[in-house]
Amino acid sequence: MGYIGSHTAVELIESGYEVVIIDNLSNSKEEVLDGIERITGRRPHFEKLDLVDQERTLEVFERHNDAIGVIHFAALKAVGESVENPGLYFKNNILGLVHVLEGMESSRIPNLIFSSSCTVYGEPDTLPVTETSEIKKASSPYGATKQIGEELLQSEVKAKGDKLNVISLRYFNPVGAHSSSLIGELPLGIPNNLMPFVTQTALGILKELSVYGSDYNTPDGTAVRDYIHVVDLAKAHVSAMQRLENKNQEEGYEVYNIGTGKGISVLELILAFEKVTGETVRYNMVDRREGDVEAVYANADLAKTKLGWSAERDLETMCKSAYEWEKRYRE
Ligand code: UD1
Repeated sequence: MGYIGSHTAVELIESGYEVVIIDNLSNSKEEVLDGIERITGRRPHFEKLDLVDQERTLEVFERHNDAIGVIHFAALKAVGESVENPGLYFKNNILGLVHVLEGMESSRIPNLIFSSSCTVYGEPDTLPVTETSEIKKASSPYGATKQIGEELLQSEVKAKGDKLNVISLRYFNPVGAHSSSLIGELPLGIPNNLMPFVTQTALGILKELSVYGSDYNTPDGTAVRDYIHVVDLAKAHVSAMQRLENKNQEEGYEVYNIGTGKGISVLELILAFEKVTGETVRYNMVDRREGDVEAVYANADLAKTKLGWSAERDLETMCKSAYEWEKRYRE
């Protein structure tokens, strides 16, 4: 029940699904269940489990063998940390995925949605990236785990035929929070990602934001990303689950870009945030951050055609909701 998982649980429940949440609570809190319950009026069933534990994973999956499908969010995602400790990343992200697949097989659950990432494209040659753009060598062990995860799933689907159907969603940069401000992003310690750094700087929790790189070959020199509202991203999972459940897939393994299609620079995001919240974000231009790409944004047409999904919330809504959540959480 991390950031994306909790928002997806809300959208699934509101679309009529019953939700079971599995989490080892390494980067989340059980209170998130209260937020989900207050929003939806339903409390998801919760299982505390570390997916690295094979035996218990099989046990928990067996207990829920009537499930329509699994959405596998559970992974470590700090790029810098993955460079320092690659073994930890491969163990959690790859071994965890292998155990999910074993659990699904032994309890005969056929449908899986996998959290992939735009990181699989590395530094793209042409923009926007489509699902057929080249997969470049990953710039971090974290990125490698997403690439390997996708490859593993593709091979498994080939091997298992119609016993396994998979949709990989390549997330661009999720930001923002639920409009209720009852759930949102809860980074441990000093945030790595831009938006939580911005909200905490605006509220005076952090002194100043470092903008990593002002000499990129982009309109204002700062790096460009495709920021997507987490509620839009959550809704993409509902569309993907419906496609799996209704057996509408054209291939056993499908992959979709989940972004808005708009490239936004770091400075543009800061300015939009300041405008919509009335706060000032103190920032300083510093050197580029190692491993960062210059620009990446999605062509998300395939998701629109095949999943009937497209992003609806704009940058202002992303900034405003992130800010409201941070403010409410700090109170
Ligand atoms: C990266 C990964 C993404 C992964 C995510 C998880 C790539 C290309 N993307 O996203 O797949 O899911 O981490 O954490 O590897 N920035 C600042 N100052 C800050 C923080 C960030 O200027 O304090 C800039 C970054 O340089 C970047 C942009 O803001 O240009 C977004 O950074 P961030 O939110 O960390 O996400 P990515 O690095 O794009």
